[in-house]
Amino acid sequence: MQFVKKSVIVVGGYGGIGMETCKILLNRGISNLGIFDLTENDEKLNSLQSDDGNAQIRFWKVDVTNKLECKTAFESAASEFGFIDFVVHSVGVVDELDPEKAIGVNLLGTINVNLAAIECMTKEKEKGRGGAILTISSVFGLEPCSSYPVYAAAKHGIIGFLRSLGTEDLYNRTGVKIIVVCPGFTKPSMPRSTPDAIFPYLPVGSPDDRFQPVADCAKRVVDAVEDNDTGTIWIIDNSELTQVAPIKYFFPPPPQ
Ligand SMILES: NC(=O)c1ccc[n+]([C@@H]2O[C@H](COP(=O)([O-])OP(=O)(O)OC[C@H]3O[C@@H](n4cnc5c(N)ncnc54)[C@H](O)[C@@H]3O)[C@@H](O)[C@H]2O)c1
Repeated sequence: MQFVKKSVIVVGGYGGIGMETCKILLNRGISNLGIFDLTENDEKLNSLQSDDGNAQIRFWKVDVTNKLECKTAFESAASEFGFIDFVVHSVGVVDELDPEKAIGVNLLGTINVNLAAIECMTKEKEKGRGGAILTISSVFGLEPCSSYPVYAAAKHGIIGFLRSLGTEDLYNRTGVKIIVVCPGFTKPSMPRSTPDAIFPYLPVGSPDDRFQPVADCAKRVVDAVEDNDTGTIWIIDNSELTQVAPIKYFFPPPPQ
């Protein structure tokens, strides 16, 4: 019900989880869908449009590592749709051979997208009315991953950044909720470079019986964005959504 007549942006909307998320949101009655991705894909755009002829679906070519492109695309979408209510950020790469790219796309991309989206959605601005931004990290944002340490570093960074943004204070000012989900192994998995060239001694692979279907993961993404508090973190594993309670090591400081 919450999505009826809303305007949603799915960043990485032509990817595995992004595309399934678009389908579910269209089924839930959104009015406007903006897809931000690296390359146009008319086949995917047409298949979404034929799934739901009532919604307006538009594509923006965006490289999330480019701060200006993110800002311009959100401004253009807000002006075209009137408002942006929800953003799902579903961009990621695994590339252990190119740490600059892995950190750039996964971590810097998340920072660029969230900051540009808040700027457009904040109720402090005339064209903003708050909403929610959900970013997809990974279980390797919570746990170490010896096969993909650069990916794990970026995904941990995403959680640190979004926990820092997801405060009551920021929510009260902007009306924008910040939510993170951490999927486990999902099929189809992301394309990845082999880490053998840099870490030949590390184990590669994941247990075959732990893969959840991408459509189940997307359904839980949509569940997580609905009616949850800002700053919350969720694991999506085995097709289920479970809240993570981060351990507090320092704040509030211990009594003297
Ligand atoms: N599939 C899994 O097993 C799995 C598990 C845990 C977390 N995740 C996370 O879920 C998210 C989506 O993963 P997926 O499986 O759908 O991957 P995917 O590779 O199918 O989709 C990623 C999308 O991001 C886009 N993209 C890549 N670089 C970009 C850039 N610089 N600017 C804009 N768009 C760019 C791609 O074009 C693609 O459409 C990622 O953050 C990933 O790390 C995936």
